[in-house]
Amino acid sequence: MGAPYRRRHARRRQAEAAMLAPVNWVEERSGLVGGIRYFLFRNVPSDISWAQTLGSAALTAFIVQAVTGVILAMYYKPDPDKAYESIQFITNELTWGWLVRGMHRWGASVFIILLFLHMGRVFLFGAYKYPRELNWLIGVGLLALGMLEGFTGYLLPWDQTSYWATVVGINIQASGPFVGPFLANVLRGGAEIGSETLARFYAIHMLLIPGGLIGLIGLHLYLVMRLGVTSPPWSRKAAGRKRDPEAETRRQGLVEPRSRRGWRSGR
Ligand code: HEM
Repeated sequence: MGAPYRRRHARRRQAEAAMLAPVNWVEERSGLVGGIRYFLFRNVPSDISWAQTLGSAALTAFIVQAVTGVILAMYYKPDPDKAYESIQFITNELTWGWLVRGMHRWGASVFIILLFLHMGRVFLFGAYKYPRELNWLIGVGLLALGMLEGFTGYLLPWDQTSYWATVVGINIQASGPFVGPFLANVLRGGAEIGSETLARFYAIHMLLIPGGLIGLIGLHLYLVMRLGVTSPPWSRKAAGRKRDPEAETRRQGLVEPRSRRGWRSGR
């Protein structure tokens, strides 16, 4: 090895150390980098399928909605006299505005479709069963919040379609038993749909529901990591293992405590 090679090698090592310094600084004080590394490189069953990427696809759709939503919020005006105009400005005059608005509008449908596909996959794979019932329930919360996000966002353009769709939606809510009329009043913010309604829908759409979604997604992913991902139902590894200590225990008529069943291995 000649001197020029050694010098180049030393320079590269120096550059690497300089780049890693901030990462190491954060890691030493938080352990965050190790956590992210664990999440990205953890073991999953070797025979998982494409259907098991639908959760990540839903997560990607949510991130697209969050980013495009923040950009739209910089130009949108939640006032009945200005809302429609501001939407027209975003669509027709703002640079790339049509694209950002289109991504947000169509992305909302994509997000809901992906949620249903992901939920269908979890159901068909039986992945909602013990010990993942809690994560299924969190998923139900995510679905409800996702649909409410769509409902509250629909009013914001303040055109005829959005106005009358909201009238119908709130009237359906009002016909619900016990708390139905009360919740309809809370949503409307008064006797008529007007500026109060728009302000409420905007606050719920921008702050309340996204906050709830972010919290529930965090919990959901924590449980996915903690419990591991299930193998597909056709998995030979999960169903036809050569030695299955659990099955042997059952054959001998012994009941194994729930907490000792192999939830980390998948099924
Ligand atoms: C914002 C919405 C959601 C996001 C971002 C999300 C994300 C994910 C991800 C990344 C996974 C692991 C990979 C996979 O199985 O695809 C997962 C698994 C899971 N999700 Fe969701 N999900 C959402 C909504 C839902 C809904 C609506 C349900 C059902 C009602 C649900 C129930 C589950 C269950 C039970 C698992 C564990 C499946 C297994 O271990 O095989 N999720 N989710």
